Amino acid sequence: MAEEAILGYLEKNEQISDSGNFAAELGLDHNDVVNVIKSLHGFRYVDAQDIKRETWVLTDEGRKYAAEGSPEVQLFFAVPPEGSVPKDELQKKLAPAVFKIGCSQAGKNRWVEMGKQISRKVQHVEDKVKDLLLRVQDGHAIEKDDINSLKARKLIVQQTWKGYSVSKGPNYAPKRKKVATDLTRENLQRGDWKELEFKEYNFNAKGQPAEGGHLHPLLKVRKQLKDIFLQMGFEEMPTNNFVESSFWNFDVLFQPQQHPARDSHDTFFLEEPSTTRELPEAYVELVKRVHESGGYGSRGYGYDWKREEANKNLLRTHTTAVSSRMLKALAEKPFAPKKYFSIDRVFRNEAVDRTHLAEFHQIEGLVCDRGLTLGDLIGVLHDFFARLGMSKLRFKPAYNPYTEPSMEIFSYHEGLGKWVEIGNSGMFRPEMLLPMGFPEDVRVIAWGLSLERPTMILYGIDNIRDLFGHKVDLSLIKRNPICRLGMD
Ligand code: PHE
Repeated sequence: MAEEAILGYLEKNEQISDSGNFAAELGLDHNDVVNVIKSLHGFRYVDAQDIKRETWVLTDEGRKYAAEGSPEVQLFFAVPPEGSVPKDELQKKLAPAVFKIGCSQAGKNRWVEMGKQISRKVQHVEDKVKDLLLRVQDGHAIEKDDINSLKARKLIVQQTWKGYSVSKGPNYAPKRKKVATDLTRENLQRGDWKELEFKEYNFNAKGQPAEGGHLHPLLKVRKQLKDIFLQMGFEEMPTNNFVESSFWNFDVLFQPQQHPARDSHDTFFLEEPSTTRELPEAYVELVKRVHESGGYGSRGYGYDWKREEANKNLLRTHTTAVSSRMLKALAEKPFAPKKYFSIDRVFRNEAVDRTHLAEFHQIEGLVCDRGLTLGDLIGVLHDFFARLGMSKLRFKPAYNPYTEPSMEIFSYHEGLGKWVEIGNSGMFRPEMLLPMGFPEDVRVIAWGLSLERPTMILYGIDNIRDLFGHKVDLSLIKRNPICRLGMD
């Protein structure tokens, strides 16, 4: 509408000298006219020159008097035509501001006699202030002196009005041409691309924000942990087998077949394939024997070890299953000390709540060497956790079927002001290491912890479901900063 009017007007006329007058004459909104001018100018249909005008507009107070009359006139009419009114009585009749300003202005105008009693001095008054305010409101010009006095009374303020004068531009046309933004298959087939006018590229336009990949907090913390292990000279174990046999997950670790963790409350057993295809038979015999009757100074558990139980496939319940395979492979070679670590996923058939998931990640480290002691384990743990920023550690005796002694690891959490459990550790039992074929004086110290626990602490997440799983808010993954584990 405004666009047609402007382009149409310029077809017959040299220029639109004032967009304000133009809008007023055609009954258009000036803002709409300005927007169209800017757009036409952008495509060089028109040239536009700024026009600025200083105008006067009413203040809130000015608008009030324009509607209700000036205070001096309100006061004048509150004074009786004959006789007089006591000042305090008059004051009660009028608003405080009207009374105050009215007294001073009406006094100055010599309209009333001021004293304890107030009386009229003239018969008739005219509300010149109200008339002037109405004229300003309607956009009419008023005398310089009048402007000054309204301005002095803070009834009007100056405002800059902005508009344009407009003339034809280099691309002027009576109607805006539709320019093509894309060359389509149809354009090519029809051949109309020859006639089409294409929109120019705007090389200054800002592009879409790059939506690249974002690392999950668990991956970021995992990377840092990996760096810590590598700095400490550990090698990473291959953890790409989520499916494991009960043999490597439990039996090798001297975990008795009746152990509660093995039954289906804690373990996801596989239906298909439900059993493993092969196990190292000679070694199976040694594991069976140590469970049933011990050896190597142990009495064993004294029960009937069942091969079917060991064959059952499961989703590994801990990464110690990986450690057991790696240690067995190590024991088969001429002995050399090793430091191994892994960080990967494990599965437990647990009720999900704000701190538990059915799948999570474990961090595991182990050192295998001759003559290691519990003191070595404590020393390695201090070194490792100090690199995570946890230097106050405490240990509590614990039980694992595959380690003796075993220790739970606690760290003092400055934020929470208390000791929190951060991991589990121990020295693998001879019942595990000797059937593998390690020399008698070889000891393995090991520890494990979840990856989720330190990540939640670092990122201030208190519900594990916000960190991992189908309820994760993807924008959190995009926004989350790098959190660094630190030595303190
Ligand atoms: N496997 C143990 C767990 O799942 C952790 C652990 C690893 C304990 C190594 C001792 C030694 O909690």
